[in-house]
Amino acid sequence: MEKQLAEIFKGFSRLSREERLQALLDTGALQEADVDFLKRGGLRDTTLGEKFIENVIGYFQLPLGVATNFRIDGKDFVVPMAVEETSIVAAVSKTAKWIRESGEITTEVEGSEIIGQIQCARVQDYPRFESQILAQKNYLIEISNREVAFGLVRRGGGVRDIQVRRVARGDGQNMAVVHVLMDPCDAMGANIVNQVCEFLKEPIEQLSGEKVTMCILSNLVDTKITRARVYIPKVDAELAEKIEEASLFSRQDPYRAATNNKGVLNGIDPVLIATGNDWRAVEAGIHAYAARDGQYRSITKWSRDGQGGLVGLLEAPVVVGTVGGVTTLHPTAMMCMKMLGTQSANDLSRVIAAVGLVQNLGALKALTTVGIIEGHMKLHTKNLALGAGAEEKEVPLVQKKLEEILAVRKRISLSNAIDVLKELRSGKSSV
Ligand code: MEV
Repeated sequence: MEKQLAEIFKGFSRLSREERLQALLDTGALQEADVDFLKRGGLRDTTLGEKFIENVIGYFQLPLGVATNFRIDGKDFVVPMAVEETSIVAAVSKTAKWIRESGEITTEVEGSEIIGQIQCARVQDYPRFESQILAQKNYLIEISNREVAFGLVRRGGGVRDIQVRRVARGDGQNMAVVHVLMDPCDAMGANIVNQVCEFLKEPIEQLSGEKVTMCILSNLVDTKITRARVYIPKVDAELAEKIEEASLFSRQDPYRAATNNKGVLNGIDPVLIATGNDWRAVEAGIHAYAARDGQYRSITKWSRDGQGGLVGLLEAPVVVGTVGGVTTLHPTAMMCMKMLGTQSANDLSRVIAAVGLVQNLGALKALTTVGIIEGHMKLHTKNLALGAGAEEKEVPLVQKKLEEILAVRKRISLSNAIDVLKELRSGKSSV
């Protein structure tokens, strides 16, 4: 019988890589073929890369790890994360453990439509343009679904609405922008929405007599929002207050908000990359949404519930796909999707939002207690030792010395690592 994920979460980080793979095999999260694939070093043949991009000369390899302890909406997940930054996977797994033991993570997606934009840079008569397009809205939706989005319509999606906006030009003339709202089902939808917009160029020009100047999707998908909520009923009062204050800081100050959101994206991007999703698109959408009221703010919010509990919320567009694109072509992304076990784009989006929120809590807890250096730099000592040129057998010795320096001076750098290594090699070191 397969082991439950919960069983392997305990002590997972202390296992060797071989044991981790075996543990994932035992739960059925990975299959023998996946383990072989990973042991062989993943994708090597560049044929696929040549299909994705131009001028290919090889692959760029990122470490692929798994975050443990995630229970989201009552279900256990092993979360694949492709990322190079030390301590992200450790911090998110540790924080997920805290929540798993004493709280809960819940998620939802509201809305189903993505947005395509058709620009008419200078319209002669904006009110007439708007009324002409809106009068023919049903016709435009109907031809888009019949001629372009018929595959989506069969799967329950397709174009749902057409809207018209006036956008200020600043020169006294009028810019009109037509929005095409489309349900892409489990696709991210970029290609299909772009195709629909380009298809509509001609009918819009004919109906209105105005000139269409460009067509492209919008990454600010405020029509499809993913929410994650963390609730921990009993949190140390001082810690809860500090986290609330840290959250206020990132809501009110854009300088702090940028760093807060970077920390959230520390959780989100690695899952997007591991699952073959377009992380630039999600990042752009998140940042634009973070500035929706005119000031850039955090996309997360933490507050006390007045009864000793802490509540965290993340709200942002996290538009991803589980069909089409790299997700279903790249063997590592396909393996990660299988390991994660999310069946739909909405489910994947919910897991990603949850990981972002939990990553944020881990960062805020560290920042308001021990500080960033202690947690982050402690794990970073290995990178510094390697960066200084330490051989494998020298790494633990250099790490040990760096940890001593860190404990005393609260700071370490690459130059410390270089000095430590020099001393070690000259036989002067006390390590
Ligand atoms: C570092 O990669 C991320 C943090 O700066 C996030 C934050 O400040 O909230 C620690």
